[in-house]
Amino acid sequence: MVTGGAGGIGAATARRLAAEGAEVTIGDLDLEAAQKVAAEISADAVELDVTNLDSAKAAVESTGTLDILVNNAGTDEFGFFHQTTPEQWDKVLAVNLHGVLHCTFAALPGMQEAGYGRIVNIASEAGRVGSKGSAVYSAAKGGVISFTKVIAREGARFGINVNGIAPGPIETPLLMQALEFGEIGEKIIENMKAGTQLRRMGKPDEVAAAIAFLASDDASYVTGEILGVSGGMGMVG
Ligand SMILES: NC(=O)c1ccc[n+]([C@@H]2O[C@H](COP(=O)([O-])OP(=O)(O)OC[C@H]3O[C@@H](n4cnc5c(N)ncnc54)[C@H](O)[C@@H]3O)[C@@H](O)[C@H]2O)c1
Repeated sequence: MVTGGAGGIGAATARRLAAEGAEVTIGDLDLEAAQKVAAEISADAVELDVTNLDSAKAAVESTGTLDILVNNAGTDEFGFFHQTTPEQWDKVLAVNLHGVLHCTFAALPGMQEAGYGRIVNIASEAGRVGSKGSAVYSAAKGGVISFTKVIAREGARFGINVNGIAPGPIETPLLMQALEFGEIGEKIIENMKAGTQLRRMGKPDEVAAAIAFLASDDASYVTGEILGVSGGMGMVG
């Protein structure tokens, strides 16, 4: 199951996993868009609001025991922290942090019983280095990184490997919406590009490839890791 698989990195991941032979279910708030991607790759689509535990449980129940869970759904509301509102904080935390808790909580019992699982959480370099204009998002992603490590520890005896990805700036609707915020948005994107060693944005397929690796048995001895897919953004200097 790929959450938030209707667009951006999630859709690229759904396509990649399907191409590698996985039976994919796309869970997304936007069911129509999820169904469109699903139709292309003979996958299933379910309506899923990751901010709601019951919705996460229902999505997992309708899919059956998951071998692979990609916690990808995410959102952001750009702006300097002092200009944001508590309502925005709640939304950003609900999707990016609570969403990962909910879907993981829903998936774990089946994986534990099966004695097998691969969970890949999509965090962000923002969660490691902090991203100006994305304070609460960075806090949520930092939370996802620590959560990933704990669930890797707790999942190990059940055969469940848990890893995270820290993408840098990836060309998707999420990042491009920063442009709607005018000059500050343009600056954020330019600074992000400049902050990578490769001096460019990444493509959703480049992230999907890393997710597919961590979900695969090629990564059977990898757990509790956060893999930067960020053109070297996390490097110092
Ligand atoms: N694009 C980047 O530069 C970038 C960088 C670092 C991390 N990320 C992370 O990668 C992941 C994917 O981001 P993207 O850039 O592809 O974003 P996107 O906006 O293109 O896609 C996000 C998807 O999540 C879905 N979604 C949003 N809220 C949801 C909810 N409550 N329940 C279920 N689905 C929901 C949306 O409908 C959409 O299909 C996110 O976790 C994001 O934080 C992205």
